[in-house]
Order: sequence, then structure tokens, then C-alpha cells
Amino acid sequence: MSNKVYIFDTTLRDGEQVPGCQLNTIEKIEVAKQLEKLGVDIIEAGFPVSSPGDFNSVVEISKAVSTPTICALTRAVKKDIEVAADALKFAKKGRIHTGIGTSFYHINYKLKSNPEEIIERAVEAVKYARNFIDDVEFYAEDAGRTDNEYLARVVEAVIAAGATVVNIPDTTGYCLPHEYGEKIAFLMNNVPNVDKAILSTHCHNDLGMATANSMSGILNGARQVEVTINGIGERAGNTSLEEVAMAIKSHKDLDLETGINSKEIIKSSRLVSALMRMPVQPNKAIVGRNAFAHSSGIHQDGVLKNRENYEIIDPAEVGVKESSIVLTARSGRAALKHRLQVLGYDFDPTELDDVYQKFLELADKKKDITDEDLQILAGREQDKS
Ligand code: KIV
Ligand code: ZN
Repeated sequence: MSNKVYIFDTTLRDGEQVPGCQLNTIEKIEVAKQLEKLGVDIIEAGFPVSSPGDFNSVVEISKAVSTPTICALTRAVKKDIEVAADALKFAKKGRIHTGIGTSFYHINYKLKSNPEEIIERAVEAVKYARNFIDDVEFYAEDAGRTDNEYLARVVEAVIAAGATVVNIPDTTGYCLPHEYGEKIAFLMNNVPNVDKAILSTHCHNDLGMATANSMSGILNGARQVEVTINGIGERAGNTSLEEVAMAIKSHKDLDLETGINSKEIIKSSRLVSALMRMPVQPNKAIVGRNAFAHSSGIHQDGVLKNRENYEIIDPAEVGVKESSIVLTARSGRAALKHRLQVLGYDFDPTELDDVYQKFLELADKKKDITDEDLQILAGREQDKS
């Protein structure tokens, strides 16, 4: 089995479905070009039948971007597929992503159908899409809550119909990592023609398991992962691109690789956050403001002795200049001494003790201490001597 994990970015489709995060075509092109620099393999650019604006964005992104495959979403409906194929006409490499719900809930309550008819509709959609394009991905919506035996039949049928990639979405973010991994393993072991296609993960974050579930899927044989920048997406969001990319990069023992140029991660995160007006939570893994900030005395002392004591990723690897030592009432003498030295002050231990006491008094009143605050404290200490 190949050790390459394809990165399928759906920031511009699943991510953009978030209320208030809509982008115009110019903004979408800007994001798509950044995703190209970041090294994603596939950009899901939109759902062309949903609106003229989305159709137009898929057309313009196809013209603006050359390396990644451009993908367009459809339902298992002929009209959707025709419109998607039309929107992809300028793509150097295009993909249609078609699919239908396969869980008990979707079959009975949403589609008011039955399992056999769903397989027929799935097969028909894939075959129809193959008339327009060679690269067809099928999604089994709500696969996370779909019975594995039935899901295996669906996957076998769509691969026989010509699907090149089969997406196993945990649409409602319900699975636990071991369950989702077992689902992928079950398909890998029980679908006779599974090696004719790539299995893809698409995990939502309703229980905060999206990255863990995606990794579990990959460890059990999936070789494409569907992600968004900053993990944006419906409800609690999708799997974060940056988390999966850095989990794979940091764990060399997994012997897996992606095409992601990790140094472009922070730029991509900030661009998406700014254009979508969607702030990133400060403690968000990899891209949050505090992801490389150390504030407690013990950690600061450890990092100053050797970064690797408390950092598993060199911040430069994701495009962050350096980690930061935040001075608060929890900081110790080592961090204060270090910051004072950066600012050009070198105190002997007794003087430092004095400044440290004044620093603590101030830090108890203020949330964090700025360089200006330190300059005033240090200046006063110098005046005394
Ligand atoms: O979450 C989901 O099931 C989806 C599909 C449309 C791929 O986004
Ligand atoms: Zn989704």
C-alpha cells in the first residue's frame, strides 16, 4: 500500500457552508491559490448546481489553479452532475464528487427509499458522471452511522460502476476513533475490488473527534483525507488540515507522507480566518495564538533550556517565526531574566530578585506584562544603582 496520503481540501465547499463565512469569487480564488501553494492535492471548489455564484466560482478557480485537482460536489441527480461537469470544463484535472445517504436515517427519513434502490441510484450516478469525466468520487453520506455490511455492498457497487475514490463520511461526527478505524478496516478487508479505488475519510467534529477519527481511518487504510483550514465547517466543523498534516509529519514512525508544504500553514490559516471573519480559538492546535506560547514558570524554564522539553513541533515548520514566552504572574525568574536580556538589561542575581518582586506585584494586577512595562521596571532598578 502506498504511503502517500492525499489531502482533499473542502474549505471552499463544506467550510464555506458555515453561516456568515460566504466568500465571493475573487476571495475564493485567493484562497484556492493559497491552497495550491500549501500543496493540497484536491480542492473541492463548490457545489455548482446550488447557485450561479457557486457555479461561477468553480469555473474561475478551475482557470486560476493548475496543480491541484478541482472537485465539484453533486447529489446523485443527473442535472447536478451535468452542471458540475460544465463548471469543471476549464479544470486541468477535474473530479465530480457525487453521492447519496446510506444510513438507516437517511434512507428512511430523508430519502424515503429502501437500501436496494439506494444502491441502484448510487451506481447510476457514478456511471452517469463517468460519461463526463474519468475521476469520480462517491460519498456515502452518513457512512459513520451506516451498517458496515450494507456499506460494503454500496462501496463494492460504486467501485464496479467506476468510482475512483470512495468517501466514507462521518457526517454527524458520531463515531469514536476505534469505531471509525474499524469501519475502514472492514471495508478494506471485505470489499473484493477495494484496491481499484482510494478510500477517503471525511470526519465532522461534533464530539471533538474529527482529527482522531481521520487518523484512525488513515491508519486502517484510507489514503485520502478530507479537511478544511482551521477545521471550519457545518456545526462543530470538519477535520483540520493543519492537525492531520502535522500529525503525519511529526510521527515519522507512521511512515506516511503528504504533499503539504507546512511552512504555508499559518499564512493559509490567517487568510481563511480573515476572509471568512472567523476567529481562530487561541488554544487551537497548530494555528491558535497560544499554540507556541509558554506561560507557566516551569515550562518557560524548560523551553529556555531546550525547546524540545515542551515543544513537539518547531514553530518555524508551520511558518511561525518563533515560540513566545508570555510573562504573567505564573512566570519564573528564568523567563524574566531572558526577556530582560533580549531587551538589553543584564542584572546580577540580587538586582534580578528585586525586579522580579516588582514584576510579580504588577503581574498580579495586569493580565500580561509588555516589553514597555519591563523597560519601566528595569529602568527604575538601574536608576537605583
Ligand atoms: O459530511 C458529509 O457527508 C458531506 C458530504 C456531502 C461529502 O459533506
Ligand atoms: Zn461534510
